[in-house]
Amino acid sequence: MCGIFAYLNYLTPKKREEILELLVNGLKRLEYRGYDSAGVAVDSAEAKDISIIKKSGKVALLAEEIKNRSDELNMGVTVDVHCGIAHTRWATHGVPNEINSHPQRSDLQNSFVVVHNGIITNYKEVKVFLEKKGHHFESDTDTEIIAKLIYHFHQQHPNFSFRELVEHVVQQLEGAYALCFKSKYFPGECVATRRGSPLLVGIKTRTRLATDHVPILYGKDADSNPEHRPHGRGEFPTLPRTGSTSEFEPLEDKQVEYFFASDASAIIEHTNRVIYFEDDDVAAVKNGLLSIHRIRRAGDDPQKREITTLKMELQQIMKGNYDFFMQKEIFEQPESVINTMRGRLNFENGTVTLGGIKDYIPEIKRCRRLMLIGCGTSYHSAIATRQLLEELTELPVMVELASDFLDRTTPVFRDDVCFFISQSGETADTLMALRYCKLRGALIVGITNTVGSSICRESHCGVHINAGPEIGVASTKAYTSQFISLVMFALVMSEDRLSLRQRRQEIIDGLKNLQNQIRDVLKLDNKVKSLAEDLYKKKSLLIMGRGYNFATCLEGALKVKELTYMHSEGIMAGELKHGPLALVDETMPVMMIIMRDPVYTKCMNALQQVTAREGKPILICEENDKETISYSQKYLEIPRTVDCLQGILTVIPMQLLSFHIAVLKGCNVDCPRNLAKSVTVE
Ligand code: G6P
Repeated sequence: MCGIFAYLNYLTPKKREEILELLVNGLKRLEYRGYDSAGVAVDSAEAKDISIIKKSGKVALLAEEIKNRSDELNMGVTVDVHCGIAHTRWATHGVPNEINSHPQRSDLQNSFVVVHNGIITNYKEVKVFLEKKGHHFESDTDTEIIAKLIYHFHQQHPNFSFRELVEHVVQQLEGAYALCFKSKYFPGECVATRRGSPLLVGIKTRTRLATDHVPILYGKDADSNPEHRPHGRGEFPTLPRTGSTSEFEPLEDKQVEYFFASDASAIIEHTNRVIYFEDDDVAAVKNGLLSIHRIRRAGDDPQKREITTLKMELQQIMKGNYDFFMQKEIFEQPESVINTMRGRLNFENGTVTLGGIKDYIPEIKRCRRLMLIGCGTSYHSAIATRQLLEELTELPVMVELASDFLDRTTPVFRDDVCFFISQSGETADTLMALRYCKLRGALIVGITNTVGSSICRESHCGVHINAGPEIGVASTKAYTSQFISLVMFALVMSEDRLSLRQRRQEIIDGLKNLQNQIRDVLKLDNKVKSLAEDLYKKKSLLIMGRGYNFATCLEGALKVKELTYMHSEGIMAGELKHGPLALVDETMPVMMIIMRDPVYTKCMNALQQVTAREGKPILICEENDKETISYSQKYLEIPRTVDCLQGILTVIPMQLLSFHIAVLKGCNVDCPRNLAKSVTVE
């Protein structure tokens, strides 16, 4: 939750207007993380103080406010060195008004300002301590204690460096955070740190980077320990080498820009060279040099942080010809499913290779059970594939909501294999569940869409679903790619089972046809839109199905709730007679998914139970299934595929339906109220 963005230009002249624009654009890219309010802190026009501009509501309103105050902000002035920090908020503590927006400040003079993503659980205790010391709080946020605490330490230790002050602060904090600090006492410097919330830095230099890593400095006296100061300074960037010698370039080449952000999508337009921070890293930029420190060395701490080259393309995070990211992402599915299979599934010889887990397959085959853990849509992808996993692995498969799994302190054993499914790879509940299972010795497999995310890094092995950046808060293409990733895993697990050869082959053939079939389903868009016109004024929508398509009911209902704020419930058709049937009458909107799979007859029973109560269900059924269609005036015909893949095709009309209802109701499609894409709080 919340998006952090900071920009530091060193010996790189920039107009103040450009800097503010850059900060606002960074926030726009991160808006999916929260959009309750937004704010920036930059040097004041005379560069002596810090100006904070905050606005409740979306980033566009902040941009407007900045424009209104452009005279006061001296937009035309060019600065060679500057640090600006920015934030888009998903409120946890305190209503989304301007006072509670970030940056939060230490005092009326804005001596220290901070932006925060996460929750500080011991903020009340720290607040009491600071109040006793005479600090006056203005907001209801947990974050304000951080700004005040650093100021307090500065008053106590006026000789401490900015980085040392931050190190002192974080030792007092409990909870989860990613933080970026700016201070009028340390102009042109930025300090950032994280624990439990994501943070990375993008580095842009004029010349090629001379190194592919930044060394880590350990301990309080790391600054003075020559062992930890390779290249004589232990800081980044080490100046570019000329030829094969390690001579430093002249001073002009020190030009550098740093972009701190919660997510790579905010910086890809500036640079593709990034470092993902680990928990407890304290990164400081001083005199244009980046150093990464750790107060103490944890057991298996690496000596350096690698500089990663992002593969993401700018166009992947733009809307292109679509009006909404969600719409674009729905229509990208013919390509995204192929990207998930690319290089993994060989359709010629029917082999599947998942490079990220290949070495662990023998261990997985010996396990006691598989556990699939996730939240929201990711959890639904586990439900969607559970039956196939049971069939092809012959192992018990548990599917768990991460939050509930933790609440129950579920028993986990060394010979369990635990899959953590997460689009963002940062969902706090899923990450906590991962750590819980890891502590108990289970093998941890990550299924994520975000390279470099916490779940990726903390897993023993995993599968990147390669769906490409998903920006719309409601997940769509990530679901179908998670689905396929899990199907491919099931195929890998059954590769040497002769008795399953035919079954595997039909699934592989099904996967091969999927792209064209998804295209056909997308052609139903106009038909779905007219169904949306009938539904958008209704109060509720029940979605019924069973077997392989039950997950579509849950996922469809989640999409409808998220996007349209309409009540919707996914109902296991087998449970209909045990309660939900009482809801059915001629006015209750009902959708039923009835495919010609092993539970077809049972689904038809449910259909009859509904029509007997004068229910008028909209059917999602197989192409040319005249018999089923005869039960309703309204239906969507979906191409037939192998039973276990059918859910990939049946979910798409539900994605389209929720999208169209949201548009008709005037809801914010990409940023539904009260939600955020990446939920990094428990
Ligand atoms: C949030 C989003 C959902 C998403 C869930 C899990 O609630 O609004 O769309 O399914 O988080 O996210 P993850 O990134 O772990 O898949």
